[in-house]
This record gives sequence, C-alpha cells and structure tokens, in this order.
Amino acid sequence: MNLVVIGAQWGDEGKGKIVDYLAGDSDIVVRYSGGANAGHTIVVGEKKIALHLIPSGILYPDKIAVLGSCMVIDPKALFDEIAMLEEHGIHAEGRILISDRAHLVLPHYIKRDKERDAARKRPIGTTGRGIGITFSQKAERDGIRLADLDWPEKLEELPDESRAFVLSYKERLLPMSLSLTAFLAARKGKKVLFEGAQGALLDIDSGTYPYVSSGMSGAAGAAAGGGLGPRSIDKVLGVFKAYSTRVGNGPFPTEFDPAREGPLCSFIRETGNEYGVTTGRARRCGYLDLVALRYACQANSIDSLVMTHLDVYDTLAEIKVCTAYDIKGFPTENFPASIPALESAKPILKTFPGWQQNITNAVSYTALPPQTKDYIKFIEEYCQTKVGIISVGADRGQTFVREPVWS
Ligand code: GDP
Ligand code: IMO
Ligand code: MG
Repeated sequence: MNLVVIGAQWGDEGKGKIVDYLAGDSDIVVRYSGGANAGHTIVVGEKKIALHLIPSGILYPDKIAVLGSCMVIDPKALFDEIAMLEEHGIHAEGRILISDRAHLVLPHYIKRDKERDAARKRPIGTTGRGIGITFSQKAERDGIRLADLDWPEKLEELPDESRAFVLSYKERLLPMSLSLTAFLAARKGKKVLFEGAQGALLDIDSGTYPYVSSGMSGAAGAAAGGGLGPRSIDKVLGVFKAYSTRVGNGPFPTEFDPAREGPLCSFIRETGNEYGVTTGRARRCGYLDLVALRYACQANSIDSLVMTHLDVYDTLAEIKVCTAYDIKGFPTENFPASIPALESAKPILKTFPGWQQNITNAVSYTALPPQTKDYIKFIEEYCQTKVGIISVGADRGQTFVREPVWS
C-alpha cells in the first residue's frame, strides 16, 4: 500500500511527528520533495530530533529511508544530518537510499538563493538553502543529478569549485543510489509511507505563487517523487494545525493582527512553540482557515485529515475559525489564485466555545470534551473530509487514530 502524508497548510503542520508515528507500521519511508528547507521535529520521550532531508522513519532501527526523485539534496547537509543521528545513537548509514534522479544542491546555489531573494522587489523570505536555484537549474536542464556523478563529461561542465565539491562526496553518495521505480516495483505489497515536505499552499502549482517553495509539495509530488504513476497512490492524509502558521512572506488572510487580537498571537506562538526549525524565524500565526483547508483537500484528493496542536487551545474561552473571505465586499468560500485578492481578503469568523481543560493526556476521540468534538465535527463537515488522526502534544505517544490507517 502506498500511503501519502502531506502538509495541508503552509508547512510545519507536524508532518514529521505524524510520519514518525505511522512509520512504526510501515516497511519503507520515502521523502518525496523539497530539500533542507524542511524542518521536521520528532519527540520521543526525552529525545527531540529535527530532520531536514532524511525521512522521519529513520528513528526505527529496521526501516528503510529513501530520499526520492523530486528532492534536491545538499550533500553536506545530508552527511551532517547522518552524523547528528549517530550522535543520538541512531545508525542511519546503510539504511538511507537516494533516488538516482534526485538533484544536488551546489554551494554557489545557496549563495545565489540568498542574494536573489534579497534583491527581489517582493522577497519571498526563502530559507536560503539554495532550493529555488536548484529547481530552476533542473527546469533549465542544467542541473546535476545523483546519477550524473558517474558522467565525467557532464561534471567537466561545472566550475572547478563545484566539481571538486560533488566529487568529494561521490564515493559516499553513489553506494546509496538506487532506481526508485524499480526498487518499489520489486516491493509491491509492502507498506510504503510517502513523507511530504512544505505544504499544499507552498506547492509550486497549487500554492500561493510566487510566495511558495519550488517543488511539488502536494500529493501529486508523491507520485513523481516516488517514481510512480498517480494510480499507484492508495491514500492521502493531510496534516493540519488547529490554527494556521506561515514562515516567510506572502498572503495570510487569517493572520492575527495585534491591534485586533491583542495577546492571542504571542499566546499561540509561545504555547505552540512557533519558531522555525530550519531558520529559527518566528512563525506568523492566525486562525484556522477552512477556506484554504478545504481547497487543500480538494486540490490533493485528501482522504483523511490529521489534526495537530489541538492542545494549544486548551485554556482558551473561545475559538474562532474562518469560514469565508470578504474580498472587497464580496463574500466567497473559494480560495483565489490572485495575490491582491488574497491580500485584501478579510476573514469571516465563526466562534466556538473553548473546552478549557487539559486534553494532552487524551488517548481516544471519546475521551475528548464535547466542545472539542463539536469543533472537530464542524471542520469535517466544512471540508467534507474526516479527521482520522488527532495529535494532542509533540510526543509520539500523544496521538490517536479514529479509523484504520493502512487500509
Ligand atoms: P513539520 O515541518 O510539519 O514536520 O512540523 P515542524 O516539526 O516544523 O513543526 C511542528 C512543531 O510542533 C514541532 O515542534 C513538533 O514537535 C510540534 N508538534 C507536533 N504535533 C504537535 C501537537 O499536537 N501539539 C503540540 N503542542 N506540538 C506539536
Ligand atoms: P516543512 O517541511 C514552512 C517557505 C519559506 C519561504 C518559502 C520559500 O518544515 O513544513 P524556499 O527556501 O523553499 O525557497 O522558501 O517557503 N518554506 C517553508 N515554510 N515549512 C517548510 O517546510 C518550508 N519550506 C519552505 O519560509 O516562505
Ligand atoms: Mg517544519
């Protein structure tokens, strides 16, 4: 079975936590898109690990972790991450495989990414990891793939410094290389978990372009990044937070306005620890945006939603959620492509009573307070998608499922 986990908002929804949780029952975990711009945090008891390139299944000693075809990989960042895992007692070498079609991030792409964004009239606020430059080199047909490390004439075209850089990793990278299509075809019937990076609204095609990342972070990217056709995808899970966050620039219709929401913004940021894993930037925070979430469900064929960070609302007397936008006097429930329309959208909010009790120890849906269930039910009805998994804290154990996942 091929099960896909995507972010259903602007990233940082808790994908790493959920993939780690589900990986226990999987055979192979394939990270399918993005690069070291991602930051996926996993908490298991006292252990807290932030992954950028390596799939979240790596914490289990018997799982195979594959970096997929649509990833862009900075070799230095990869081997730094493997060393970090070793320090935590996690032996990753030998269990990490890389699609030979994945592209490599070169040091001068990183420099160019930072310079390019700083020079933009409207900066995107990239993570400065060379992601956009690597994807544009790929689209220009000038990129370097893992497979190209064995193509001396191609490497000759690189500037001396870049050639020396990739060659210095060749002996370590090539043994990890595989043909992902053939690898997965030979393992039909295995439980393969596809881990997304970024989120539906940061997808190059269906996101808030140009304020997006450069890869296919939506569900379609799992097929491309897994070397599969779209009919091979059996199920898509969309992870979302009980509120919304965004890092970097771009429209965010439900963003908290300190003048209007007062201390709510800093409350959510501090309670939810909303600081970027990759760059340390404070994340922008706002109400849950159901217009955007339903759009993400529709654009990605999300079969089931995974709700995280529900616990962050534990002490609030009331909870608001956006059910429509007012765009220049016209109400709409459709998520527009136009950036000026999104920038002028005023959220139309519905208020729910808070549950005002600690739910971080809840182990089942039935254990949740009635107010929490009402809030979840409303989201399900609006999005026409069931919330199948709920997370009430950062730890692996603070998770429960409402319906079987691997079926
Ligand atoms: P990802 O990029 O989607 O994997 O998410 P990040 O790791 O960047 O950010 C999610 C943050 O929230 C991490 O610090 C997680 O440890 C934490 N987290 C995940 N799920 C929950 C949850 O249900 N409640 C709380 N309070 N924190 C969570
Ligand atoms: P995970 O996987 C949140 C954002 C950046 C910037 C834009 C483009 O942890 O959810 P890039 O460096 O990709 O060219 O930056 O995308 N961004 C993310 N925001 N979570 C992420 O990944 C992100 N990856 C990129 O902040 O606005
Ligand atoms: Mg993250």
